[in-house]
Amino acid sequence: MTTGLDGVIAAQTRLSHVDGEAGRLILCGYELEQLAGHWTYEEVVALLWQDLVPHPADLRQALGSGRTQAWQRFSPLLPCLDGMSAMEGMRFLLAAMPDEPVDATLLLAAAGVAMATAMRRAAGEMAIAPEIHLGHAADMLRMLRGRAGDIAEIRAFETYLVAAVDHGLNASTFTARVVASTEAGLASAVIAALGALKGPLHGGAPGPVLDMLDAIGSADRADVWVETAIARGERLMGFGHRIYRVRDPRADVLKAAVNVLRGRSNRIALAEVVEQAGLKALARHKPGRRLDINTEFYTALLLEALDVPRAGFTPVFASARTAGWIAHACEQQQTGRLLRPASQYVGPWPEPHLA
Ligand code: ACO
Repeated sequence: MTTGLDGVIAAQTRLSHVDGEAGRLILCGYELEQLAGHWTYEEVVALLWQDLVPHPADLRQALGSGRTQAWQRFSPLLPCLDGMSAMEGMRFLLAAMPDEPVDATLLLAAAGVAMATAMRRAAGEMAIAPEIHLGHAADMLRMLRGRAGDIAEIRAFETYLVAAVDHGLNASTFTARVVASTEAGLASAVIAALGALKGPLHGGAPGPVLDMLDAIGSADRADVWVETAIARGERLMGFGHRIYRVRDPRADVLKAAVNVLRGRSNRIALAEVVEQAGLKALARHKPGRRLDINTEFYTALLLEALDVPRAGFTPVFASARTAGWIAHACEQQQTGRLLRPASQYVGPWPEPHLA
């Protein structure tokens, strides 16, 4: 009897494949490395949304006007909440829109606007209106920080959005598919997925990686710090993965993106020393299981170097992943099949004389 659904195939998908043994992430026939750092977010979303949008250029334009629509229609109504709660709150605002049910593009645009608007307000800053002609990555970065990014920053942020867009049947994507299978609609599937993502075991975000780097403080303390942490039975943040038995392929594309920002963060050199110290110590303490860095390690460095506040790491991840959830929800809807797994009853049975 399997609990936790490990190894159970619950869907067939053309969207993404995670190969944990070989350390590969394939998105619609492309290796992640072919896309991240090379394709725009819109191009990758168009690849995932083949049945929904005709051309990436159309998607860029449609997303721009979606952001503007979302901003005009509901951003004044968004309460001052943390980014994830604001995105979950989209459900009520979307339901009040005249063209409900909303389409995929407006939903993705609205997720970004809700996230950026709420985070600015929660930090006591003025929310920034979208700029219709910008690409989604450039505008999201601008709306989050209140200032435009330069080419290197936009490219790094776009690399992150692409690396985060889809990743097999993880907990939030599975949630989106379950809700979509009931024909509840795309918006409900995305809102449910947000709830699954925010738990610390899933999208708990790379914030703890930065906490660890804060605690280590300087490169000369790295070896002793990681040794002591592992000896105490603690987990090194940003190391290990449930599926990957080798290095998480997202870690390398993010590390390459972070390297371009090297001059803008004084933490990257420390992080590299901690990476090496962690790998050495884990190889010694856990010889039977190769533990390498995961996506969260360099996500933390990248978002920090871009001046995204730590509180925004999970919401930014969620806004990027929204495109993947929508693609999976549509794919599930097309099967016309309600997802309804079985459970094994382990409770008491009625006494025979009462039956
Ligand atoms: N630091 C120290 N030891 C570790 C770590 C780590 N980061 N990860 C695993 N181990 C240990 C386990 O305690 C276990 O030890 P044991 O055999 O003595 O009990 C052994 O290595 C094998 O563990 P796994 O079965 O590989 O780990 P599991 O699949 O249960 O957990 C997880 C995966 C939760 C990601 C884990 O590696 C971890 O807690 N990492 C740190 C937190 C983190 O970075 N999370 C983000 C993951 S990426 C993502 O979800 C987007």
